[in-house]
Amino acid sequence: MTSANVPLQAPGHDGDGLCGRRIVLGVSGSIAAYKALAIASEMAAAGALIDVVLTDAAAALVTPLAFQAIVHRPVVHRLGDPSGPMGMDHVAHAHTAEALVVAPATAHVIARLALGLADDALTTTALACRAPLVVAPAMEPDMWTHPATQAHVATLTARGAVFVGPDDGRMASGKHGQGRLADPAVVVDHVRAVLGHGGPLTGRKVVVSAGPTREPIDPVRYLSNHSSGRMGYAVARAVRDRGADVVLISGPVDLAPPAAMTVVAVETARDMLDAVLTHAATADAVVMSAAVADHRPIEAAAIKLKRSAADLALALTPNPDILIALGAEFPRWSEDKRGRPYVRVGFAAETHDLVAHARDKLARKSVDLIVANPVPETFGGRNSSATFVTPDAVAPLGERSKDGVASAIADWIAQRLADML
Ligand SMILES: Cc1cc2nc3c(=O)[nH]c(=O)nc-3n(C[C@H](O)[C@H](O)[C@H](O)COP(=O)(O)O)c2cc1C
Repeated sequence: MTSANVPLQAPGHDGDGLCGRRIVLGVSGSIAAYKALAIASEMAAAGALIDVVLTDAAAALVTPLAFQAIVHRPVVHRLGDPSGPMGMDHVAHAHTAEALVVAPATAHVIARLALGLADDALTTTALACRAPLVVAPAMEPDMWTHPATQAHVATLTARGAVFVGPDDGRMASGKHGQGRLADPAVVVDHVRAVLGHGGPLTGRKVVVSAGPTREPIDPVRYLSNHSSGRMGYAVARAVRDRGADVVLISGPVDLAPPAAMTVVAVETARDMLDAVLTHAATADAVVMSAAVADHRPIEAAAIKLKRSAADLALALTPNPDILIALGAEFPRWSEDKRGRPYVRVGFAAETHDLVAHARDKLARKSVDLIVANPVPETFGGRNSSATFVTPDAVAPLGERSKDGVASAIADWIAQRLADML
C-alpha cells in the first residue's frame, strides 16, 4: 500500500471494532437489566453478533423476547432446554465468543463467577469461556461495598476481568451511593477496547491531542475556537481499538472521556505543549488534531476587565507551534525519519486552498501525513470530507463520519509502523 492509500473499511460501520465480532452478553437479575437492552442495541447497531444468555432472575425482570427482537438471534435462558440454542451443546457460546460481557452483574453472579460455579447457562458458559470478561456490576451500595463482594471483584480482576463501574448516583430504591450500572455507551466503549487487544497497534504507544485550547484574557474570559474535540476523540478510540496504549491530551470539551486510555486535561496551548512533549518522548506515533490557538493575550489581566465605552485592544503574541516544537525536541535522525515518535500526523483546517496549505505544513513541520479538513463546516459536525496529504500523494477520503476518518488514520498509522520494521 502506498503511503496515502486509504484502507478499505466495512461498509456502514465506519471501521467499527465491533463489526462482525461475536459477543456473549450475559444478563443477570438486577433491576438495571432493562438497560442491557440498550447495550445489546448499541452493539447490534455496530454490527456485532450477539448471543444473549439470561439468568432466571434476569428473565423475571426482562423477557428473552425483548432481547431476541434486538439481536435477531435466539436467546438462551435455561440450560438443558432441548429446543434452545444450548440444547445440543451447553458450552456452545463459550467457544465462539470473542468477549463475554456480563451487564448488569448482580452480587450473586459476581460471586458465582469468582468461585467458578456452573449452575446455570450463564455461569456454565463463563466457566468454559477463555475470551476476555467484561463485568458491569449493578447493586445496592451496601451489597457492592460488602467485603465478600469486594473479595470476589479482586479475584476476578486478578484473573484479568475488566470491571466497568458501578457508578455513583441514585439507586432504584431511592438511596444514593455507588452501585448504579455504568452508562450503556461506556460499557460498550470498554468492550471495543477489550476487542482491540492483539490488534495491529498492540505494544504501540500513540499520543493524540484533541479539542480547542483556551487562552485567558482575564479570570472570567478567554480566547478559543469552535473545535468540539470529536475528531481527536474518534482518533484516540480508533487507535485504542487496534490495540494501542493511548494518551489523549484534551483541551476543554463537552465529551465523555473514552474508556481504557490515559486522558490528560489541559487548558492553554502552553499546557498542551508541555503535555505533548512529556508523553511523546516514548510514543511510537503522535496525532495532533487539537485546534490550538495560534495567539494568546500577551498578559492575562489579574482582575476582571470592566465594561467601558472606550475601544479595547487586546495585544496578542503567537503561541508555540506544537508540531514544530516536537520536531525540534525529537529530531528525525535519518533519511527514513526513524526518530521517536516514528510517525507524526498533523491536521490542517482551512477555509481555502486546502491542499496547498497542507503541503506547506507537511514540509515545514516535518510530518508524515496531513489530514486536511475544510472549515468551518467540519467544526462540531459528525461528518468530515478530509483529504490525506503525504509528501508523494493526495487522497480525498470523500464524505465520511469522523469515526470513519479516524479509522482510516488509525489504519494508515498501523501500516506505516509495520512498513518501518
Ligand atoms: C426487583 C429486584 C431487583 C433486584 N436488583 C438487584 C440488583 O440490582 N443487584 C443485585 O445484585 N441483586 C438484585 N436483586 C437480587 C437478585 O435478583 C438475586 O440476588 C438473584 O438471586 C440474582 O440471581 P442471578 O445473579 O442469577 O441473576 C434484585 C431482585 C429483585 C426481585
